[in-house]
Amino acid sequence: MGDIALPSPLVLLGFMGSGKSTVGRELAHRLGWHFCDLDKRIEAAAGTTVAAIFSQRGEAVFRELEHRELLGALGAARQRRTVLALGGGTFAQERNHEPIRAAGGVTVFLEVPVEELLLRCAGMANRPLFRDEASFRALHEFRLGYYRQAAITAAAGGGATPGEVSERVLEQVRRLRPRP
Ligand code: S3P
Repeated sequence: MGDIALPSPLVLLGFMGSGKSTVGRELAHRLGWHFCDLDKRIEAAAGTTVAAIFSQRGEAVFRELEHRELLGALGAARQRRTVLALGGGTFAQERNHEPIRAAGGVTVFLEVPVEELLLRCAGMANRPLFRDEASFRALHEFRLGYYRQAAITAAAGGGATPGEVSERVLEQVRRLRPRP
């Protein structure tokens, strides 16, 4: 299989609701790679939910845990090829960029129009940073500058299935490292 030569880890980033976990799981399945969801890793380490960490200990504590678990996930990814789904804010923390680069990670931005993100996230009670539409839009706008630094951007809106988005990602990843 040619995909054995693909660079690992594939690091999925993008705003909340962009499908990082769903597409990440699908990609890992297609590649036969390990899948790691950073939020789940944080929850396992903290023994509680992301929402509870935010409400009981605050965002600054969450960002510390997130950074630590990112380092752990990247370390584990050296042992086995991995698709790693970040949280929506992980790549907006500049200190997280260098460890991802050093681990040889290929960053993949899942791009979904903000109107669609709003629809997807409305009614999701478990997202601490979804307060109201105006702050959602402002945060999205601010973070786009970070997300656009990703090596790869894949269109992930407009009704594309996780399988279709995965194909778009893989097409571009294969082009990064043309096989002889
Ligand atoms: C966050 C997004 C969440 C989670 C936490 C903070 C953010 O992940 O990490 O609530 O800062 O946008 P998802 O993008 O998976 O919702």
